[in-house]
Amino acid sequence: MRARPIAILAAVSACEAAPAPPACTSGVMQPGTSENLDMTPGQACNACHAYTNASSGDGGDAPIYAFAGTVFTGKHEPDDCVGGPLDDAPAEVEVVDAIGVRYRVPVSAVGNFMFESDAVVYPVTAKILYQGRVRWMIEPQLSGDCNTCHSAAGTDGASGRIRLP
Ligand code: HEC
Ligand code: HEC
Repeated sequence: MRARPIAILAAVSACEAAPAPPACTSGVMQPGTSENLDMTPGQACNACHAYTNASSGDGGDAPIYAFAGTVFTGKHEPDDCVGGPLDDAPAEVEVVDAIGVRYRVPVSAVGNFMFESDAVVYPVTAKILYQGRVRWMIEPQLSGDCNTCHSAAGTDGASGRIRLP
């Protein structure tokens, strides 16, 4: 009879030691680096573009965006998971800069969005628009590399991914 409570304890600690990995809601992982607007959903776009430009020797061609990132359904989806709406309804990202100018861009087939311009003044706020609903980021941010903070786990105070409203 003594073995029984010990077996239960072992089962409980086994559960705690193995948390479920973050789920990819779309079920479609897209690893690899085809270099276009649908590349590496979830990864920090500008951080890698700046890094590859600096390390390429001849300056490099990867664009540095005024803002760029990825929109997901879930809060903790892994890098390279295809995000964006799971239906065909369009989603958009609107960034409002420090002098009140609004920039609105579409979300791509994998959930990515990007905007290239030297005119954007930081800090910026942002909102996601989808099916008539809106999700705001009220707190102004000094960086437009959205996925640096909105990583799978969340970095620099962000609680996780940028999600569809
Ligand atoms: C792991 C590194 C890496 C990450 C992360 C990354 N990129 Fe790239 N990207 C590149 C490289 C390298 C190129 C090619 C640059 C060149 O043509 O010299 C490129 C090119 C591109 C291009 C084509 C630009 C052009 O003018 O031809 C687009 C669009 C693009 N990336 C969008 C994104 C977006 C959006 C994200 C974030 C969701 C992202 N990238 C994340 C490395 C990366
Ligand atoms: C320096 C870090 C940082 C950067 C960069 C950043 N954010 Fe945020 N974001 C936050 C924090 C902190 C919050 C508030 C906590 C939370 O809800 O995760 C937040 C919240 C949000 C929310 C609301 C989340 C919710 O669930 O209600 C959205 C939407 C959002 N951000 C979009 C963006 C977009 C779009 C960009 C790029 C233009 C961006 N963020 C760049 C830190 C950042």
